[in-house]
Amino acid sequence: MLEHKLIDIQQRLKQPVAHATGLPNERYVEAAAFNEDRKYVMGTGWSCIAFAEDLPENNYVLPIDFMGVPLVVTRDNNGQLRVFHNVCSHRGMHLAEEPCQTKGMLVCPYHSWSYKMNGELRGTPHVGGYGNHSHPEFDRAKGNLREVRSAIWLNAVFINLSGDAIAFDDYIKPLTRQFDELCSADDRLQFVSGNDDCRTTMTVKSNWKLPVENYLESYHLPTVHPELNKTSPLDVHFDLERFDNGGGQGSENYTRTNIGGNYLPGLASWDADKSNLAVYPVLYPNTFIGLHSDHLFIMYLQPTALDQTVEHVRISYVGEEALASPYQAHRQALLDAWTNVFKEDIFAVERMQKGRFSPGYEGGVFSPAMDAPTVHFHQWVADQLVKHA
Ligand code: FES
Ligand SMILES: [Fe+2]
Repeated sequence: MLEHKLIDIQQRLKQPVAHATGLPNERYVEAAAFNEDRKYVMGTGWSCIAFAEDLPENNYVLPIDFMGVPLVVTRDNNGQLRVFHNVCSHRGMHLAEEPCQTKGMLVCPYHSWSYKMNGELRGTPHVGGYGNHSHPEFDRAKGNLREVRSAIWLNAVFINLSGDAIAFDDYIKPLTRQFDELCSADDRLQFVSGNDDCRTTMTVKSNWKLPVENYLESYHLPTVHPELNKTSPLDVHFDLERFDNGGGQGSENYTRTNIGGNYLPGLASWDADKSNLAVYPVLYPNTFIGLHSDHLFIMYLQPTALDQTVEHVRISYVGEEALASPYQAHRQALLDAWTNVFKEDIFAVERMQKGRFSPGYEGGVFSPAMDAPTVHFHQWVADQLVKHA
């Protein structure tokens, strides 16, 4: 994209919300936008690509497609997670094809070079000629897998593909500070997730940015989520304090699930007089969070095409006891409720995607009262493009 055009878009987004214009259609529908978003937006910040629970055993490998870039998450013998480029250093074969437990080695199926879970190239059969598995001129260390910068936060796996983003702790600090007003950081480490009743995935036919924009605002609650709007209506929603890499909204009317007079365990440090508070921030670019006193959900977006995005959702509960059978009905009820809410949003983002093909739309006009979070995200995207492209 031409630099002067980008700067022009950035300037129009810096206007007060009432006068701002959003990202142009081409950022949603033009083929080049997908790779540009990977290189300059998703790849330069901290993007969520998996959940730690997706690697249920030690010595496990999980291949990931990150907007066309093949990656692999590994869990070593001590449980440590790492992320690598999923490609053999010899002739460039794609290494792991399916999630699976290994015997501690990732073996390339072409010439059988093998890699430890920490990426070290270990076995190089016949590299020095038949029966010689080393060669004086062959430096094995040069063949180690290329590691991708990663961080684990609340059991979500984040990467910074470009390798030069600010430290993850600094990236997330403004958000964790907001969380600290509700509960302690130590307490949040109690969130654990289980199996099928704790996760779901959905595929939406839209560019990845539209689900972000939709999640950021509560303006659509009365029309898109009529049931949710009965218990948590628009007038009890509030904007979260926006920070460099995120923003979102919250509700003052969260109601804990009551089944037969029983409630899920809650975080001990969460004040009883704040138990109706819940916050729904987005950590840009692709991570949605729902923090409640008795559960946490994280949804991350996996863009699989310019106009297709997979939404991965995982719900966590407070302590192992919340994953036991007495709370099965609670977990199922919450999974059903959130799945329903997220499904209600699908038509909205898919129809915005359709609308982005219209030459009669050029970024749109915004509600000064309701659309500030959306404009903030557009500004952030434009800033990333200007800074990195
Ligand atoms: S390409 Fe992997 S061992 Fe040759
Ligand atoms: Fe929604």
